[in-house]
Amino acid sequence: MNPTPHIKTEGTSKFQIGEIKNNVIHYDFEKIKTYLNIKGHLLFGKNFKIYKEDEPLIFKLCCYFIQDHYSCAQMGIDTNKGILLTGPIGCGKTSLMKLLTHLAPHKTTYEIIPTRNIVYSFNATGFEILEKYNDTKNYCFDDLGVEPTGSHYGKDLNVLGEILLSRYDLFTRHPELVSGSYQLSPKANNQQPITNNHSKTHITTNLNAQELEKRYGNRVRSRLRSMFNLISFDSSTTDKRK
Ligand SMILES: Nc1ncnc2c1ncn2[C@@H]1O[C@H](COP(=O)(O)OP(=O)(O)OP(=O)(O)O)[C@@H](O)[C@H]1O
Ligand SMILES: [Mg+2]
Repeated sequence: MNPTPHIKTEGTSKFQIGEIKNNVIHYDFEKIKTYLNIKGHLLFGKNFKIYKEDEPLIFKLCCYFIQDHYSCAQMGIDTNKGILLTGPIGCGKTSLMKLLTHLAPHKTTYEIIPTRNIVYSFNATGFEILEKYNDTKNYCFDDLGVEPTGSHYGKDLNVLGEILLSRYDLFTRHPELVSGSYQLSPKANNQQPITNNHSKTHITTNLNAQELEKRYGNRVRSRLRSMFNLISFDSSTTDKRK
């Protein structure tokens, strides 16, 4: 384990984004911004910057990803739920989710997957792809709503709708019930601990709640509410592609 997660190393430079007091890291948002600017340059090129108008939203996301339970509670964010990041095309949702995986990987990690790719895999390999996401890893499904309907040997499926329903079941499974228990290995009598820690799902999307309901149905919509913290870019946020 990294003994100094509050000190980020990029090449030969080090960035201290907080201080350790009594074994607890106290993060400093100004220092986090400096680090995110630099890391953003490295990942996305020299035009990347933290926009002033995005700072309140970025602050929320940072509190969430460092799992600052106190600040999150004050802002109405539940650190056990995932993030549903919405906003207009090109406002920077995908970039931010990519960037923030680097902030506190000792606290929260997740794999970012474009929803389109999941559907292409379903079309190629079929229902076994649904199993892949029925696990305890954390995922960020990127660009929910733009993926086509899945089709495998003539069978059509709303692939992401199905995956979200099974992610909900995983999410609501009580962690203690699973982490303290043992499962028989299929091969022999050796028992193996199941490690589950409240699997989290994150999403980026351009769709609003009504559009999500239309696309995935009310069963998914009602589950989204209990699975996610909704964090939205303002609808007037400029397209950063321009
Ligand atoms: N903070 C930023 N500063 C400069 N450029 C940025 C910033 N954020 C994103 N960009 C650039 O703007 C473009 C759009 O960003 P991104 O793909 O993250 O947006 P998005 O909200 O995910 O878009 P979409 O809704 O189409 O998925 C990319 O080329 C990205 O490099
Ligand atoms: Mg995107």
